[in-house]
Amino acid sequence: MSAKIRLNAANTGAVINRNIYGHFSEHLGRCIYGGLYVGEDSPIPNKKGMRTDVVEALRHIKVPVLRWPGGCFADEYHWEDGIGPKETRKRMVNTNWGGVVEDNSFGTHEFLELCEQIGCEPYINGNVGSGTVREMSEWVEYLNSPGDSTVVQRRWANGRKEPWNVKYWGVGNENWGCGGSMRPEYYGDLYRRFNTFCRNYTKEHPLYRIACGPNVDDWAWMDGVMKVAGRHCDAITLHYYTHPHGWEEKGSATVFDDEEYYLTMRKTVKMADLIKGHLAIMDKYDPKHKVGLIVDEWGTWYNVEPGTNPGFLYQQNTMRDAIVAAINLNLFNSHADRVVMANLAQMVNVLQSVILTDGDQMILTPTYHVFDLFKAHQDATLIPSEVECAEVTEGVKQVNVSASMKDGALTITAANVSCTAAEDVLVELEGFEVQNVAARILTGDMHDMNTFEEQNKVHIVDFGGVEKAEGGLKLTLPACSVVEITVRG
Ligand code: AHR
Repeated sequence: MSAKIRLNAANTGAVINRNIYGHFSEHLGRCIYGGLYVGEDSPIPNKKGMRTDVVEALRHIKVPVLRWPGGCFADEYHWEDGIGPKETRKRMVNTNWGGVVEDNSFGTHEFLELCEQIGCEPYINGNVGSGTVREMSEWVEYLNSPGDSTVVQRRWANGRKEPWNVKYWGVGNENWGCGGSMRPEYYGDLYRRFNTFCRNYTKEHPLYRIACGPNVDDWAWMDGVMKVAGRHCDAITLHYYTHPHGWEEKGSATVFDDEEYYLTMRKTVKMADLIKGHLAIMDKYDPKHKVGLIVDEWGTWYNVEPGTNPGFLYQQNTMRDAIVAAINLNLFNSHADRVVMANLAQMVNVLQSVILTDGDQMILTPTYHVFDLFKAHQDATLIPSEVECAEVTEGVKQVNVSASMKDGALTITAANVSCTAAEDVLVELEGFEVQNVAARILTGDMHDMNTFEEQNKVHIVDFGGVEKAEGGLKLTLPACSVVEITVRG
């Protein structure tokens, strides 16, 4: 059977928030140290300590927003340890991740410098679990106040005159677990208390306040927090990772068979039910949809690469991950009216990274290339799509799609989820006269990956296989592929 995609250019949806293409960087393993930041004295080329190769690659995919410093690390992080002269910064043990020494050489100023270099918005996650209200309040003051207080004078003394006007502000992370093992009602009250003292320092730059939401299908957490704190936040988070088997034995990132590949896809599409279910609960307390949903941790989570520190969560990345990324991003696009941000976990060297580094070498993963293929969706208007096709495994359609329109161009991103079969696809296009079509594709065997030995095995190529057809377009999607089609009228 061939697949049919139906699109009507006149039937427009919401604008796709560019922040759906966001990322997450935690003080975990080699994400910050070695991955993003090497320090000014490193022989690895850098600007103010940030790796120039990595920053350049991130600019290319137009990273819109970056979350930091965690994750679980956020609720044991004390921001004052990471400012001032590096030699005097406090050392701590990173008890969540590998028990390594954290010398705090990457702190607030460094993170904001990194965001400036990447050209993205910072999203800072404050400490509720082991921090104080005063500590969080003063961090916001240090970041955003234009006034002349002792806290602000410290910022000046540390070399920054102007406030950064940080907008995205997370009040705790996973406070149901590593962030304090709380009950939803208790966290809801704490959220209200901490949030009260996070001030808006100027009218032009109010904080965008983010409450800690549930893990996976913890409906009771969503219900409890929305009930208590829903009126006090701009958005609430959801965390859902794709691990094929379960927490104990997650499976290998690179060694898997067809059955495990499809199991991974079935676990991935569960995100659709989670978004639907949590939005329905949010509706109870927020019928006017003022509160956005942020999926601020998503991605694949496998066993670590053999021989690496289990606390560093370093894993390889194959075409299977590319398909997982495409399914999630297409899904977030299709919920553009409610999903206001999503952050892939994590940016470099941790979980489903877009970049892996080894000393001075850097490789781009298949997932990186998916973000490249999808970047035209940022700030574009969703064109809702209907897909008619067979399932490759229970509940997973073979062809997975989203589409959007910006500046007169229609962008369609589609994945063929089958790891063995190509698929003929007919795109029925209403309300759009096709003049010109261009396409790019990422495809390969499901096991294909880039390694430090073979750095460019998986990469995007131009795809000449999209033809004009009666009422639209036709193409054959190779097995295990992701395509971006740009149509101009
Ligand atoms: O991304 C790794 C960890 O996963 C984060 O620190 C935590 O928030 C989640 O459990």
